[in-house]
Amino acid sequence: YLDFPHLPNNASQGGKPRLNKYSSTLTKDHDFPGAQAMLYAAGVPDEESMRNSPHVGVASVWWEGNPCNMHLLELGKTVKDAVQKHGMLAWQYNTIGVSDAITMGNEGMRFSLQTREIIADSIETVTCAQHHDACITLPGCDKNMPGCLMAMARHNRPSLMIYGGSIAPGYSKLLRKPINISTCYEASGAYIYNSLKQPNDGGDQTKTKDEIMLDIEQHACPGAGACGGMYTANTMATAIESMGLTLPGSSSTPATSPAKMRECVKAADAIKTCMEKDIKPRDLLNRRSFENALVMTMALGGSTNGVVHFLAMAATADVDLSLDDIQRVSDKIPFIADLAPSGKYYMADLYDIGGVPSVQKLLIAAGLLDGDIPTITGRTLAENVASFPSLPQDQVIIRPLSSPIKSTGHLQILRGNLAPGGAVAKITGKEGTKFTGVARVFDKERELDIALNKGDIPHSPNMVLIVRYEGPKGGPGMPEQLKASAAIMGAKLTNIALVTDGRYSGASHGFIVGHVVPEAAVGGPIAVVQDGDIVTISAETNELSMNVSDEEIKARLAKWKRPKRMVTRGVLAKYEALVGDASHGALTDVF
Ligand code: FES
Repeated sequence: YLDFPHLPNNASQGGKPRLNKYSSTLTKDHDFPGAQAMLYAAGVPDEESMRNSPHVGVASVWWEGNPCNMHLLELGKTVKDAVQKHGMLAWQYNTIGVSDAITMGNEGMRFSLQTREIIADSIETVTCAQHHDACITLPGCDKNMPGCLMAMARHNRPSLMIYGGSIAPGYSKLLRKPINISTCYEASGAYIYNSLKQPNDGGDQTKTKDEIMLDIEQHACPGAGACGGMYTANTMATAIESMGLTLPGSSSTPATSPAKMRECVKAADAIKTCMEKDIKPRDLLNRRSFENALVMTMALGGSTNGVVHFLAMAATADVDLSLDDIQRVSDKIPFIADLAPSGKYYMADLYDIGGVPSVQKLLIAAGLLDGDIPTITGRTLAENVASFPSLPQDQVIIRPLSSPIKSTGHLQILRGNLAPGGAVAKITGKEGTKFTGVARVFDKERELDIALNKGDIPHSPNMVLIVRYEGPKGGPGMPEQLKASAAIMGAKLTNIALVTDGRYSGASHGFIVGHVVPEAAVGGPIAVVQDGDIVTISAETNELSMNVSDEEIKARLAKWKRPKRMVTRGVLAKYEALVGDASHGALTDVF
């Protein structure tokens, strides 16, 4: 990881740790007058501050065009003010992200996963180039959290994360019920198959499907905050809180609550503690904390996307974590949270009964979560949550460990002649644990979307829809296939399973398998599945296979040619050239 070899000589001052050990290489005397002139112009008030004040970067993934991120500039200002009250210099900056909801469904989704690398690259760049002594990150949407963590692992300077928080639930007057972003996607399937109707509850039933769709679109997202179910953003936030890299409660505190503002103020105290005690990200990122991340993800029913992000974060921090660890933890941790997308409740509901710290208390008491890990507060995880309430007896969101929704985790690592390098399935058990069907193959999700829009996917027989050339290199960018999976649910096509070398959104549910490795674009066996092959998906034997012999697969691959590349210039072309496979985190900085 990055460091400057001359810094140990600069690390203490009068026997105490020097809090400005990185910035003081620029500011301690007149060696860099141009740099100091720039810093005075940017706001350093006097020579005393120039010589002695530590520099803290406040990195938000702020931009206006997405509810998940649009409030982060304001949160960052609160952080900046609080940091400066500690006599430190705080510098706000932002990196770009994209909205996973806005990018989906078109070619735009290809620009989603690669933003994780852009966020990591940007924060690493500013922290190191500007000689910041510490870093506070404020992420919101899906890729933001792993991007921030990867940056922290790379620069390894005292750091913490403040999650932007979840959105409040929306409400549809026409459907007469709370709604959210998933309602939009599922309604699109019902819209296509003409089953989008008002409820048969004695109330108004006169509205057309277009009026209902408009009402859903206009009321699903009532303000700032990330998607409120256990989709990717909340999966990453709850996991990272369980690794000790946020203040307690960060992942469940709603985006627009006063408590989120208070967290921003408290973050300044915590970063000062990290700097004084020299607590660095790599002191916290280790096997024990990643185990905690996986335990929380299994207990709450987190997104399949967590797998690729955990592998990437671990590899970036030089922590040994593999697909086998995901399966091992899934095999031992009960799934206990009735949270969307497979369940009924949202993060705002969990916040009302104590939030993630109360769940952590339950899991620590049961010996499932390691409460002894150190955290950014300078205390252990168990000490951080000790003052939070236990979950109320009468709550219905988190099941008792003695009667879980499923006795083991929902994430399954599958292997077989269709995915020799691994694949990731999210199987809650509601849809069964084994599926066999006839393959119908689509090169690119767009082809499947066209078939769905034409109502061309029948309600029988059992079919496994294969969507390929959507992997990290093939997409390029490993796009999510939320539209197809949600439309299938909305159209009540219960005879369908989906298999892809791309990803599924955290909001997806149903019998779905993603992250197939090797991907089609590099000549994985998924490239030569043919219509009519019989495909088996089994969470009982952790298998993803087709009824095609090894010799036949070899013969088909000998004739295979990669289709013409989608892009040859620009950021996606660079991404395609650098990115590794999903079973190793789809990283771009491993050579
Ligand atoms: Fe941002 Fe869902 S689109 S968290």
